[in-house]
Amino acid sequence: MKIKKGIPLIDQHDKNYMYGGKFGGNFIPETLKKPIDDLTKLFAKLRKDKKFLKERDYHFKNYVGTPTPFIKLENLTEHLGGAQIYAKVVSEANGGAHKIYNATVHCLIAKRAGKKYIVGDTGAGYAGKMLAMAAKKFGLKCKIFMGSRDIKRQRPNVEAMKKNGAEIVPVTTGSQTLVDAVSECMRYWVSNCDTTHMCVGSTVGPNIFIKICAFSTAQISRELIEQIKDEFGRIPNKLKLLNCVGGGSSAMGFWNEFMDTNAEFIGIEAGGPKNSKLHAAPLTNGSKVGILHGAAQYVIQDKEGQIGSIESCSAGLMYPGISPLHCFLKDTKRARYVSATDEEALKAYQLVSQLENISPSLEPSHAFAEAIKIAPRCKSSEIIVVNSCGDSIKDKDIIKQKLGSYIR
Ligand SMILES: Cc1ncc(COP(=O)(O)O)c(C=O)c1O
Repeated sequence: MKIKKGIPLIDQHDKNYMYGGKFGGNFIPETLKKPIDDLTKLFAKLRKDKKFLKERDYHFKNYVGTPTPFIKLENLTEHLGGAQIYAKVVSEANGGAHKIYNATVHCLIAKRAGKKYIVGDTGAGYAGKMLAMAAKKFGLKCKIFMGSRDIKRQRPNVEAMKKNGAEIVPVTTGSQTLVDAVSECMRYWVSNCDTTHMCVGSTVGPNIFIKICAFSTAQISRELIEQIKDEFGRIPNKLKLLNCVGGGSSAMGFWNEFMDTNAEFIGIEAGGPKNSKLHAAPLTNGSKVGILHGAAQYVIQDKEGQIGSIESCSAGLMYPGISPLHCFLKDTKRARYVSATDEEALKAYQLVSQLENISPSLEPSHAFAEAIKIAPRCKSSEIIVVNSCGDSIKDKDIIKQKLGSYIR
């Protein structure tokens, strides 16, 4: 299994849409074949269409508000010693997280496809909030599927979805979290695909959704590579790019343009509560390959091969699988994956928010936890960049409950 240079990672699949012959594919019901084929053809055309790309770039600049800042975390660097720590503050994008890129592109595609309705899934609520926002902007009617447990714990984003006119469909099956929301959303789409476009909120699902999502979030690294060259005059020899991974969309976007460079990719999964066997870290814990939401990937499973129980303080990282693209990056050793526990993430949130002017949500706090671990062991010539891909405001209640106070 090998990654080819000079070819976008999303296109490195075989005729069955498998990466490395092992991950991805389209394991879909017969009823979805035509809508998926239609969308695949439309996207193949649009990604080469200069007018469409111009429109996308216009909205990235004037609606999403890019480029997002690239800043040095001077106080954290001094506090830890060792590597110089920087952040790409993607949480400064409109709405407060990277999910706005995918939502914007999906709405533009839905318009081109002549669809009036758009549906999507959400865990942490950012994918739902952003889809609701973009749908409102582009004149589409929006429905969001969200697990009942997540509705309770991500209140600010639920309010934002309502404010933007979306209908929220509570999902009460299974674990009542992201995995069930994606399943219900796909079920709904099967019966409504003639009038409705579906947006999958991460780089998961049938191949076309992985492609659209990674194509959209790649904007993050398109900006970052320029910002890094501007800061250092070149791409530094020892550059570590740290990103949390749930489904894997922000990490894919953060790494994409650096694929053929020497930059080291470190993905941080949710290790769950410290003294529990539960986690949401399939790559770190050697999970087996299974099929989830239409794609082969490493999946947390029980002894019978059913989807296993998972846990994390971070709703956005609570997915039992992981993008086939990350499975491919892991098996080719292009990226390595570790995990951080709930406690480590909460501590990292606290330290970063106390020392710096940013306040990462619990998802990127997992990546900051790894930065805090490794920075003191590095030389000062080494550069760590963390993707601060979400704002903590949505986690206010959980943070107050766990730490006693909320700093922002
Ligand atoms: C702020 C934030 N970061 C990270 C994630 C994890 O998703 P992904 O791995 O697709 O970026 C989420 C998911 O909701 C999120 O809201």
